[in-house]
Amino acid sequence: MIRKFQLIILASGNGSNAEAIMEWAKSSCMAEIIAVLSDKKDAPVLERARKFKIPNIILLEKNKNESREKYDQRLLMELKRFNPDLILLAGFMRILGTVLVEAYSRKIINIHPTLLPKYPGLNGYEEMFKSNDQDVGCTVHYVDEGVDTGEVIGFSKFHRRPDDTFLEFKERGLRNENQFYPKIIEEILNGKGGCHD
Ligand code: GRF
Repeated sequence: MIRKFQLIILASGNGSNAEAIMEWAKSSCMAEIIAVLSDKKDAPVLERARKFKIPNIILLEKNKNESREKYDQRLLMELKRFNPDLILLAGFMRILGTVLVEAYSRKIINIHPTLLPKYPGLNGYEEMFKSNDQDVGCTVHYVDEGVDTGEVIGFSKFHRRPDDTFLEFKERGLRNENQFYPKIIEEILNGKGGCHD
């Protein structure tokens, strides 16, 4: 019996990367998405997860006046229920605290829209677009307690056109992210033994 790697996606927003991962997992022999968790009740990613019939779709909002540490504890308890092999951040708009990062060392990965260490944090596409950089693209990295500071796993560049509007630029960048994220997840899982018994 093949045991597939069990993956969880955490996302706060639109979910184009989450969808690309769910699409890839649907036909993958090595991985399944066992849960999608969001901290935002109106996040379109939740609808996308329903479309893919993900068995656990979880809304975990931060309560008013709740400390970051308390929220992280609740998130950790949720994650522990599933014992995931990898946790994939796909536009999850929260910085993870020590308790999470230590519990899942080298098991939490994130995609960032720029070539790190350039332009960490919010507004990556805006910063990259404003720059004169000809080298543009995204980064997949392990997550630590910093803002986009964890060890880099891989980069993927896309083509910048001289007459790009911001929207065209961002759209091409996102398409590049959507293609790259599942590909690099597959590489990581292959490094862990690929399709396995
Ligand atoms: C992406 O640009 C990703 O790099 C960043 O947040 C955005 C999420 O987009 N971390 P989506 O929700 O996956 O469409």
